[in-house]
Amino acid sequence: MKLLEAGILGVGSALPPKIITNFDLENIIDTSDEWIRTRTGISERRVVEEGVYTSDLATQAALSAIDAAGTCAEEIDLIIVATVTPDTFMPSTACFVQAKLGAKNAMAFDMSAGCTGFVYALSVGSAYVRMGTCKRVLVIGAEVLSKFLDWQDRTTCVLFGDGAGAVVLGPVEQPGFLNFTLGADGSMADLLVIPGGGSRLPASAQTIADRQHYIKMCGNETFKFAVRVMGEVTQQALEAAGCSKDDLDFLVPHQANLRIIESARKRFNLPEDRVVINIDRYGNMSSASIPVALDEAITSGRLQRGDLVALVGFGAGLTWGAAIVRY
Ligand code: ACO
Repeated sequence: MKLLEAGILGVGSALPPKIITNFDLENIIDTSDEWIRTRTGISERRVVEEGVYTSDLATQAALSAIDAAGTCAEEIDLIIVATVTPDTFMPSTACFVQAKLGAKNAMAFDMSAGCTGFVYALSVGSAYVRMGTCKRVLVIGAEVLSKFLDWQDRTTCVLFGDGAGAVVLGPVEQPGFLNFTLGADGSMADLLVIPGGGSRLPASAQTIADRQHYIKMCGNETFKFAVRVMGEVTQQALEAAGCSKDDLDFLVPHQANLRIIESARKRFNLPEDRVVINIDRYGNMSSASIPVALDEAITSGRLQRGDLVALVGFGAGLTWGAAIVRY
């Protein structure tokens, strides 16, 4: 079977307007703007108002990606939503998005791969295009993490924010995806987990009293893993794509901590303006961080058609992944 080439036709994003600054957090927990900025690089984050769900942000991002791609909802034949904060466990958030878009010709499902979710979903979406099964694929990374944060736990609640980013994929002449390198190590699953609410620890009065429905993270261990894996997986993906670090125009990394991003930037000897950063304004938006950063770089005119881009993620699972993209 001859495979087609797949590429990114359009990109979009959506952020809730409400801003919570580090100074606002000083009023609710024992923390400081100085601690958060120096340890993480975050100054503020966005959070949704009551009544706004992951599917709402996902739909808004999808509409702007559909517009940028010059297509319409009826032409979309697959919707993949990468999320760790779905509207409901059942059905998938992708099905809510399908209905909200009126994308009546699309099949729809979610993918869960922690903060690597968008890169994983991109690999699946591009495979559907390459096989010729789909012509217009929406890949969305969307999160409402604010509803899964323990706002009494200063070690996690300062880190995350809400948002969504989306791309439309379709067949193109020149290869848009040069390599995907993806991995997982489930033996480290407990480093980053929402323990309650699944079949392992079903919801009960006790799990609620124990605050088991919130994100728990071993920050230090995750940090060491992230620094190591981000450099390694980017290097492996570049080599597998037949490229060197000198060919790279932009690094669009997952935005978990500015110090993690800086270590990758130094490893690849990239000038600061070649690394797309938005953690200062949005915190860690898990699956949404990479597509939102990608959209901002494109919309601002920094990232141009033809640029070679590495999208690199890591997160709960633990999972990791890099995509080498010719935009
Ligand atoms: N304000 C003030 N002090 C704090 C805060 C806070 N918000 N949070 C923790 N502290 C304190 C701790 O209690 C600790 O105090 P102690 O020494 O008296 O015990 C001290 O600060 C140092 O804590 P550490 O956890 O060692 O701080 P560290 O420098 O490791 O930074 C951080 C913590 C920012 C969480 C870092 O470890 C990190 O970024 N980890 C990686 C996160 C990540 O990559 N996540 C993966 C993706 S997420 C996903 O997949 C959904």
